[in-house]
Amino acid sequence: MPHSNVRRVGSFLLWLVICTSLPLLLFTAATIWRTHEADRLREEDALRATASDVSERIDLAFESLRASLLTLADSGSVRNGDWPDAIREIRTLEARTGVTIHLFGPDGHALLPAEAATTADQAVTKAVQQAVRTDAAVLTDLLSSTAEPSVALVVPGFRTNDLTPTFAIVALPGRAWLWQLARPPNPAADKLIVTIFDQTGTVISRSIEPERTIGRTAHPALRQAMQRQRAGLIAIPQTLDGVPGIIAFRQSATTHWIAAALLPQSAFGIAQQRDLTMTVAIGALMLLGGLYAATRIAARLVQAIRALGCEDGPQVASTGVRELDELANRLRAIATERDATEASLRETDTRLRDLIGTLDLATITTREMDGTIRFWSQGCVRMYGWTAEEALGRLSHVLLRTQFPQPLQEIEATLRNKGFWIGDLVHRRKDGARIVVAAHKIFRKRTDGAPDLVMESLVDVTALREAQDSLRAVNQDLEQRVQTEIAAREAAQQRAAHNDRIQALGQLAGGIAHDFNNILQAIAGGAALIARHPRDPDMVGRFIGIISDAAARGASITRRILLLARRGDLKPEPIDAAALLIDVRDVFAFTLGAAIKVELEIPTALPPLLADRAQLETALVNLATNARDAMPNGGLLRMIASRDAVSASVGAHPADLAAGDYIRLTVSDTGTGMNAATLARIGEPFFTTKGVGKGTGLGLSMVKGFAEQSGGGFTIESEPGRGTLATIWLPVHDAPSGRACGAQQEVSGSVQILLVDDDPLVRGSVTEQLEDLGHKVLSASGGTDALAILRARKAIDLMITDLSMPDMNGLALIQEAREMRPQLPAILLTGYASEAVAMTRNNKAQPNYTLIRKPASTAVLKARIGELLN
Ligand SMILES: Nc1ncnc2c1ncn2[C@@H]1O[C@H](COP(=O)(O)OP(=O)(O)OP(=O)(O)O)[C@@H](O)[C@H]1O
Ligand SMILES: [Mg+2]
Repeated sequence: MPHSNVRRVGSFLLWLVICTSLPLLLFTAATIWRTHEADRLREEDALRATASDVSERIDLAFESLRASLLTLADSGSVRNGDWPDAIREIRTLEARTGVTIHLFGPDGHALLPAEAATTADQAVTKAVQQAVRTDAAVLTDLLSSTAEPSVALVVPGFRTNDLTPTFAIVALPGRAWLWQLARPPNPAADKLIVTIFDQTGTVISRSIEPERTIGRTAHPALRQAMQRQRAGLIAIPQTLDGVPGIIAFRQSATTHWIAAALLPQSAFGIAQQRDLTMTVAIGALMLLGGLYAATRIAARLVQAIRALGCEDGPQVASTGVRELDELANRLRAIATERDATEASLRETDTRLRDLIGTLDLATITTREMDGTIRFWSQGCVRMYGWTAEEALGRLSHVLLRTQFPQPLQEIEATLRNKGFWIGDLVHRRKDGARIVVAAHKIFRKRTDGAPDLVMESLVDVTALREAQDSLRAVNQDLEQRVQTEIAAREAAQQRAAHNDRIQALGQLAGGIAHDFNNILQAIAGGAALIARHPRDPDMVGRFIGIISDAAARGASITRRILLLARRGDLKPEPIDAAALLIDVRDVFAFTLGAAIKVELEIPTALPPLLADRAQLETALVNLATNARDAMPNGGLLRMIASRDAVSASVGAHPADLAAGDYIRLTVSDTGTGMNAATLARIGEPFFTTKGVGKGTGLGLSMVKGFAEQSGGGFTIESEPGRGTLATIWLPVHDAPSGRACGAQQEVSGSVQILLVDDDPLVRGSVTEQLEDLGHKVLSASGGTDALAILRARKAIDLMITDLSMPDMNGLALIQEAREMRPQLPAILLTGYASEAVAMTRNNKAQPNYTLIRKPASTAVLKARIGELLN
């Protein structure tokens, strides 16, 4: 794959050579250059030192000459003008110093030696005059008029006792003297040239070729430099020898001449330059050689790598490079492995295709999501009738006219998210037949995560789905029929139950009618006898007794029926169970007959129970009566009282009691017992085994109804031949028993009572009862009448009213009456307690009243009036 960063092996090697050679070359050149620089500096220093030495030498030479001249000037012969002596001294000095000496007069004419020039050089004459005038030594520049190049040093002198200079001594150093000054200090430095210039820049002396150069002037650049500074170093393009050179110069302090040391440019740093050139040449040669070698090696390597990279690369015997040979071996191994894996994969693939082809599964493989068929198994050919040639490359949903159970996008989303989708599809075969297939689609991704394939396995479930559909239909039909049947049965059962109730009601009505006929018989008989003997108080009293007994029996029957209907009016009160049981034991012992033994078992300190006393007595009588009936030949009746604490955690109580404290009363007998069938119907109203006229089948119903209405419960256990055990639970009364409950309170004296009832018979009898108790009675036939009376008459102590009246019910009347007389006590008479309760519920305001159930006995009336008015 071409890539911008890819380079050839050759170029890599070329870079390698350059990268290694070039720094080496540069480093060497730099080192040589540094050495060269140091040498150059050293040579410059040597030049400066030479210039400095020569300038000092000039100073020394002239100092020494001046001192000698001054000594001469001070000598007696010269001062006194003793010329022969003076000449001798002059000759001695000339011999010692090597210079020519003359004596001049102050005007500039020569005094000694007389044979010397009578007229001196113009410059000498000027110098003599200046020396005499200034009384100081004077040195001239190069004299041009002398036979050989020279300069003149003039020293002033005095005659004896003269205070102004009267003569001058002139010293003229010759060529040899001057040449001696320019001698190089180090004879070994053969290339070094020393030149001495006077103040005008004219050559006075030179270490080589003095004859040719003395009198010539310095190069203008050097002259300028010498005028600007006392000492320095300068390169000039042309020396006196006509070649470029480096010059160090220094001005002498005494003479102001300039000593210059020169080295021709050609002699300066020559060795170093040679070295540098050599190094560069060798380096370049090495670099070129390296490049050539690198190119050859690169070509060799490239050839070897190409051989490795070609089709049968790994098969190459040897590339000539060890690493490449190793790589070739490794590639050979990998290729062998890959060939083996590919062969095995091909084999597996073939086997898998064969397997799928022979399986009776219809399997399609489609590419990605577009549905193009990539694989079409033998099962598909069988199932759809399309051959692989016909199917491959076609879109599966087009070929098979697929009906999807949900939108295709949702199926695709599920495939992408979960990786699979299962569901039924409807397809068309090649012949157009419709088939239902159970499809299992699996979504495959490539290794890079891109969607690759959807593999489908398809099973023809047309028959199965049809069978399931028909089964579902059959099931629905069956369910429908069963429901109809159940409804029919329930209707039949309801009808039967209804018939049973009608029959039971008839039985009850028969029983009640029978009892009431007896009662009516007694009342009617009693009333007839009273009518026949109204004046016989004994007979009247006896018959009244019969009538009231009959009325009490009638009341007892209605009470039992009401209790059975859970409509009884219970007056719960705390009862000492022990005392009660002792009382009834006495009664039972007397009434059950001598063959039946009555036993009692009561623990001490039994708490009082809370129940209606009369109803409890009745319940015990019912149980005892049943026990007596079960023991025709006598036996044992046993009554036990005990305390029973029922806890919620123990589980369901046999009598379904709520958690709390109870008194348990059991009545057991040793009688015939009951079979399971009888036991199962216990408590069912009107169920009796005692034959017509003997039992009403209401006894146990009453006991159960009473116990449950009192907040307790009732159970009965029995086995044929082994007697029966009946148990009543009643709640413990937990208020402290101090007050005697239900204590009779009587009203003292007569009160004014308003009696309201629409029934004249009731009105009449109750009026009789009230007047009998000593009260005054005003009666009204309805609410309207009563309210009128209340409005007219003020003195009404108490109102007694019936509940159900045509114009206004008793509750409404009490309410309206209270609006006039808020404190008016009221008694409500009613056949059913629940009737009053229902009316109270309908009335928003609930007046206070005392409820008395009809028929009301004189004693009850008396007690309630007493309670109200006290
Ligand atoms: N102690 C018992 N021993 C055997 N059987 C009993 C006992 N108590 C009740 N039974 C059976 O239960 C039936 C129903 O009793 P239940 O007291 O309700 O009515 P009854 O005694 O038949 O008539 P009623 O009590 O109204 O005069 C009785 O007819 C009797 O078959
Ligand atoms: Mg009974």
